[in-house]
Amino acid sequence: MSEGGDIVVRVENVVKDFRPGFGLRTKRVLHGISLEVSDGETFGFVGPNGAGKTTTLKILMGLVRATSGRCSILGHDVGETAFRRHVGFLPENSYLYDYLTGRELLDFYARLSGVERRRRPERVETLLDWVGLTDAADARLRTYSKGMQQRVGIAQALVHDPRVVFLDEPMSGLDPIGRKEIRDLILRLRDEGKTVFMNTHILHDVEMTCDRVAIIVEGRIRYAGRIEDFLNAGEREADLILERLSSEAAAELEQRFEATIQGLGERSEVRVREKDVDAVLAHALQLGVSVTSVTPHRVSLESIFLSAVEEGQP
Ligand SMILES: Nc1ncnc2c1ncn2[C@@H]1O[C@H](COP(=O)(O)OP(=O)(O)OP(=O)(O)O)[C@@H](O)[C@H]1O
Ligand SMILES: [Mg+2]
Repeated sequence: MSEGGDIVVRVENVVKDFRPGFGLRTKRVLHGISLEVSDGETFGFVGPNGAGKTTTLKILMGLVRATSGRCSILGHDVGETAFRRHVGFLPENSYLYDYLTGRELLDFYARLSGVERRRRPERVETLLDWVGLTDAADARLRTYSKGMQQRVGIAQALVHDPRVVFLDEPMSGLDPIGRKEIRDLILRLRDEGKTVFMNTHILHDVEMTCDRVAIIVEGRIRYAGRIEDFLNAGEREADLILERLSSEAAAELEQRFEATIQGLGERSEVRVREKDVDAVLAHALQLGVSVTSVTPHRVSLESIFLSAVEEGQP
């Protein structure tokens, strides 16, 4: 993929203060955040409600000005406009003209973004097909399900075949099937070599689609890196399921291997360091214990996310 590839999105020390109203104190929403997204990467910007994800995206889209700091996309400062033709955007609450049909909406956006008239019909059909809405193309948007609305929103973001696509919460409010459909679209974007920047708080979707993540909590980035590194940080452990573990045998495993044991007798769950697994197994068999399964223990993104959020609490 894109290790060491060109940097497509760069955010440097961005601070954003909002003034909630005249005379009110300013509120700092972004405390000097920095991040980079490489060419072809699918990047997940993850954080709880109110963390500053949408604000960051709006700054990148040139809709809101940063108080200080610098942002660039494809090497262009976000204050410039010409490079925007290479950028697609699905806003958080994409306002769709609900009296239009899916086909009319895409034709409208294709016109807005300067797709040539003679190329428009073909482009619109391709997009409808791409997001699986060919059969619903002539239905009005107000009859679309939430999942169909998100899909037509993604098609809208792709109308001018951008190199970089920004999606603000593309899976929020969708049922598991709708989420999978959007996930599959994002994976296809990745296969096509697009750079994708996605805001989300649904961790499972991040694990399924993203190469790298940054976790933002209360306007500060708490973690940035590859998902694998994230999940494998610290010492690896494994979970063993054992049967007929006596209390003596348990005590011995605890002592020799610093094992953590839950339950005795019929079924015990034993967590040990991965490097000790062979020795523990040999020892357990010697003690007359039978082994039902051995599974590497995976720290979930969720647990790391929660601890990042907790650390962020005052
Ligand atoms: N125009 C504004 N004026 C004042 N405060 C704002 C404005 N826009 C956003 N904020 C505040 O900035 C903070 C971050 O909001 P933002 O929408 O960026 O969060 P988010 O991470 O996208 O959250 P969510 O997951 O709920 O979409 C919030 O406390 C919000 O109230
Ligand atoms: Mg948001």
